[in-house]
Amino acid sequence: MVLGSENTIRESRDWGQEYQREPAVMETAKTILVVYHSQGGTMENLARRFVRGAAREQGISIQLKRAADARLEDLLGCSAIAIGSPEYFGTMAGLIKDFFDRTYEEARQRTVGLPYVVFVCGGNDGRGALMQIERIASGYSWKKALEHVRITGSPVEQDLVAVEELGQTLAAGIDFGIF
Ligand SMILES: Cc1cc2nc3c(=O)[nH]c(=O)nc-3n(C[C@H](O)[C@H](O)[C@H](O)COP(=O)(O)O)c2cc1C
Repeated sequence: MVLGSENTIRESRDWGQEYQREPAVMETAKTILVVYHSQGGTMENLARRFVRGAAREQGISIQLKRAADARLEDLLGCSAIAIGSPEYFGTMAGLIKDFFDRTYEEARQRTVGLPYVVFVCGGNDGRGALMQIERIASGYSWKKALEHVRITGSPVEQDLVAVEELGQTLAAGIDFGIF
């Protein structure tokens, strides 16, 4: 996947991908951590579009991680977090919950005020996943940077663009220190 001439993509050992600028900028770059889960591929596609949007901003590094591979260190090292989850059985994907379970105790006092955004997809709803993620985010005392995006059914191009814009707006806000 080519994101533009200024970006490089690095596969990390644990399946995550990092979308980064040139090394000179990387040293000081703020990082957006994108944590997602996808069983059927819908959220994976959305997460990649989020990254595409975020990568348009100069000076921001983006780390895309499956929730199962996302670690405490990733969370502690980021300037903002984006969470992408499908709704399964009326709530977030189990592996998104697992990420929270694994990081909460260590991270909650060290990530106070962390800007976050959520994007969810569901067959016909998604609100249960959204509500539960936002409740947990408030447990960490994270700060909602932008309104969520919720997509139902098979995403159409307009949905994909909405997620892309969410990524770009978050990245711009982080870059300029707005959030
Ligand atoms: C086990 C399972 C449970 C689901 N439960 C819900 C649900 O409660 N509400 C809903 O709107 N969609 C539900 N769906 C539909 C998915 O949220 C939807 O297909 C989503 O796009 C899947 O994302 P993915 O392809 O990234 O896994 C469920 C799907 C599966 C496989």
